[in-house]
Amino acid sequence: MAVSSGTLPEGQVRAMFDRIARVYDRMNSVMTAGLDRRWRARAADLARVGRGSRALDVATGTGDLALELERQGAEVTGLDFSEEMLSLARRKGPGIAWRAGNALELPFADDDFAAATVGFGARNFDDLGRGLREMARVVRPGGRVVVLEITTPQRPPLSWFFGLWFDRLVPLFGRLAGDPEAYGYLPSSVRRFPGPEGLAAELAAAGLHDVRWVLTAGGIIALHSGTVGAQAGRWPR
Ligand SMILES: C[S@@+](CC[C@H](N)C(=O)[O-])C[C@H]1O[C@@H](n2cnc3c(N)ncnc32)[C@H](O)[C@@H]1O
Repeated sequence: MAVSSGTLPEGQVRAMFDRIARVYDRMNSVMTAGLDRRWRARAADLARVGRGSRALDVATGTGDLALELERQGAEVTGLDFSEEMLSLARRKGPGIAWRAGNALELPFADDDFAAATVGFGARNFDDLGRGLREMARVVRPGGRVVVLEITTPQRPPLSWFFGLWFDRLVPLFGRLAGDPEAYGYLPSSVRRFPGPEGLAAELAAAGLHDVRWVLTAGGIIALHSGTVGAQAGRWPR
């Protein structure tokens, strides 16, 4: 079953990321106290890429998860539809193939990669199921698909802390960064996104096997992974 994440129209999402590109890395570090690097490194570990194998990072933004995959020895392609985000990524990773493109229509052949990752990007997909099926389609059977995403903690006290942080402090940071709209969108995009069980079901529906997830940062960050089966993502879209 496909789930539309009910996000903003694609053009608006792209324009928003173009607008915030220059402050994006700094805002991430401030909002996560620098922990975001560690979460991306864990996501890259879960992709289990071998030296020289081809890995794809979807919705790569300024490229930090792609760089983690490169550190693991993979030959990496990073794809995003925001030119402004990609132009910053290009400066950080001269050895990575940066591609402009849409995650919902990946410009790659079936089975092209050994693994595909997406970090903090899936919640922006207009059609989550389609985005996951596309990732599964371009990964060869036996390869991994990894999703790193913010999730909503269910139980107090973390749910209280999360509410305070996301609904009050993040929009305040947005005002300070000069883009209240973008940083007001962030909490609402997280709340719309399925919780860990729901996302695992979406990955399974995309044809992935052995779907697992781990929560970290007190239940605020979810790392999901699954293994591509023989027919994953290949049915009509
Ligand atoms: C929150 S940023 C995440 C960037 C990076 N992956 C990270 O770990 O920080 C989300 C990125 O997803 C991109 N994005 C959202 N929807 C997309 C789509 N359908 N196709 C390609 N890129 C998309 C945006 O342009 C943005 O750069």
